[in-house]
Amino acid sequence: MHSFLNRLGIDGELPGGSLGHDAWVGSGDTIASVDPATQEEIARVRLVTQEEYDTLATASVRAFKEWRDVPAPKRGEVVLDIGTALREKKKDLGRLVSLEMGKILPEGEGEVQEAIDVAAFAAGLSRQLYGRTMGSERPDHRLYEQWHPLGPVGIITAFNFPVAVWGWNALIALVCGDTTLWKPSTKVPLCAIAVQQIVNGVLEEHGAPHGVSCLACGTGREIGARMSADRRLPLISATGSVRMGRTLSQAVSARLGRALLELGGNNAAIVTPSADLGQAIRAIVFGAVGTAGQRCTSLRRLIVHEDIKEGVVARIIGAYRSLTLGHPLEKGTSMGPLIDGQAVSAMMAALDEAGEQGGTILYGGTHLRGSFVTPAVVEVPGNVPIVMQETFAPILYVMSYTEIEEALQMHNEVPQGLASAIFSNTLTETELFLSTRGSDCGIVNVNASTSGAEIGGAFGGEKDTGGGREAGSDAWKAYMRRQTVTVNWSGALPLSQGIDFPD
Ligand code: UN1
Repeated sequence: MHSFLNRLGIDGELPGGSLGHDAWVGSGDTIASVDPATQEEIARVRLVTQEEYDTLATASVRAFKEWRDVPAPKRGEVVLDIGTALREKKKDLGRLVSLEMGKILPEGEGEVQEAIDVAAFAAGLSRQLYGRTMGSERPDHRLYEQWHPLGPVGIITAFNFPVAVWGWNALIALVCGDTTLWKPSTKVPLCAIAVQQIVNGVLEEHGAPHGVSCLACGTGREIGARMSADRRLPLISATGSVRMGRTLSQAVSARLGRALLELGGNNAAIVTPSADLGQAIRAIVFGAVGTAGQRCTSLRRLIVHEDIKEGVVARIIGAYRSLTLGHPLEKGTSMGPLIDGQAVSAMMAALDEAGEQGGTILYGGTHLRGSFVTPAVVEVPGNVPIVMQETFAPILYVMSYTEIEEALQMHNEVPQGLASAIFSNTLTETELFLSTRGSDCGIVNVNASTSGAEIGGAFGGEKDTGGGREAGSDAWKAYMRRQTVTVNWSGALPLSQGIDFPD
């Protein structure tokens, strides 16, 4: 069919589980992966059974006992080589992402680049897993902290970033000395299988034991639920909907495990009268229609000053009119399809609700064919109930404000708190947005789109977004266990807090 698929080892019917090179399992239900643009089948995948899940988790536990003792900089070299292998396959893997997920090719390649960037970041990090040393209150005592590998980490990823989000988690976890057990979305299993094959090859070259990086394709109801209840996985890092996060975190916390959650966003941009509108419009359009509105960072709400609203909306609609909808692999396409029919129905239902709640569709919002829709611009009187929800589709709700404080209030009113933006060249406005009274999100941008965060920063958000942080900065700490160490070399036994314990 496509030669790049052959080069990635994607063909026919593939097992959906792996514990390493030449070690694949998968004898459960068979699912078909389809191109969302044409509904044509790309390949089929056999999901893992409960027993096979168990084999994978056991392998992950066993491998952890070896992997944790590999010096961190050596683990970093392995991860750097994974990055190099991903770079070699960037074009092919990027095409597979586009074909299976439906995002346009530059975005498909961009997301592979994100994983490559994380590999480089993680390799550097492998020599910087720093602990602090504190001054002890007792004489001749050393007080410090060190970071140890945590254990096998469960990674659950969503359909919209089938490579990058695995990278954020797995590559950092591997450098931290953890093994990984990855459950990708069943909507995009082929991307995961292709990545697993690449990783298997690198781990094999380095003589790493089976189980360091495991793949378990399966449904959330079966494998996801199993992982969240599995005490062998001290940390579950999950990306997906708020609903999924609520269910998962209850199961994880019931066993007192750790859950690192990156859930929905309901991201807004405030456009003030001093904004550079050329810049703002480009950022708004990329934020709202990029990945067909299926990023957790997608721009969903535009809060624009009443004096400039009409002009801003006209320019956005002008830009929307010149978008090219088509197959994501075709050159020149600016927006591909939604992931499936369910996503289309959810978008249409949201538009109906918006209409009932006082919204007016200013542009788009039509179902064209298959999973193709036109992106919608909808004027709303404020954060009406449908606007408070995240609909994973290209709907941009537009509302207006008079005073900046009012804009901020509207901005923070939603339950989610992932990404945010302000377009303004007025210092008092931008600083207010960044202040304690400003945006309540985990990601805050000035004159830049809500979507398209770099991996160097910690990624995640507050409130219903789940509070987790992944990728850069010190997000690695979630993947390790902290140990506070006291060494008494005084020869005596002075007690802390000056306690004089009677002999
Ligand atoms: C996601 O949608 O889950 O910031 C991740 C961005 C990308 C990652 C999005 N770097 O838009």
